[in-house]
Amino acid sequence: MQKKLIVGNWKMHPVTLAEAKKIVTAISAKTEKFKKVSPVIVPPAIYLEHFGRQKSRIVDFGAQDAFWETEGAFTGEVSAAMLAKLGIKYVIIGHSERREMGETSQIANKKVKAVLKAGMTPILCVGERAREDDHSYHHYIEAELRASLVGIKKADLKKLVVAYEPVWAIGTKAAREATPAESLEMSIFIRKILSDMFGAEAAKKVRMLYGGSVNTKNAEAFLADGGVDGVLVGRESRIAQKFVQILYSAEHLS
Ligand code: PGA
Repeated sequence: MQKKLIVGNWKMHPVTLAEAKKIVTAISAKTEKFKKVSPVIVPPAIYLEHFGRQKSRIVDFGAQDAFWETEGAFTGEVSAAMLAKLGIKYVIIGHSERREMGETSQIANKKVKAVLKAGMTPILCVGERAREDDHSYHHYIEAELRASLVGIKKADLKKLVVAYEPVWAIGTKAAREATPAESLEMSIFIRKILSDMFGAEAAKKVRMLYGGSVNTKNAEAFLADGGVDGVLVGRESRIAQKFVQILYSAEHLS
């Protein structure tokens, strides 16, 4: 059985490396004996130089974004190639907070390709802003998927992770939590689109995550009934004890 992928997106927290180290140490200490989970911590890029080189077997590290060119006159950007050199395994692409700042699916597509080329695993985020009564959010998700995955090779699908993150369920301003049933419905829908695009065999290999207000109380239900291979956790991933509890739920899933 494949390990559950539990990803902690720290966003733009914490402010110092010392604080970041403290959280990583506390999580690693409790995670050592887990066999059925793959924990991934995704801190701000500035801390990756430190954590990426640690070669810790306990948790993997990821980046929150990556630029598609290897190097050049691109002020402020960090390339996928640079991150790969640090030992980073995963890169979140197209998070809704980046899309809010202007990132399009066309940009996400270039980034997915660059991350794959650099030998890392892209975690492509898709999700509707709101749920209209006429179900048009299905078209929205389909369009995001199709545009973000243009030109991806079938053979690369086994390295791809797709995270369904309904924007209305993310963060402290969330309208409400999504339900495992909603996650299940969308995971079936997403796999159907992937299957239309790449064929059923290749589509099966894509790992899927649910993200948006995942916490210690609902993680187990999403993992058990949400039709996903793991979860993408925001706020609660920065509180070591809570993230460990979520990892524990995944480890002890029957
Ligand atoms: P949240 O964030 O868990 O704080 O809602 C999730 C995310 O944005 O990935």
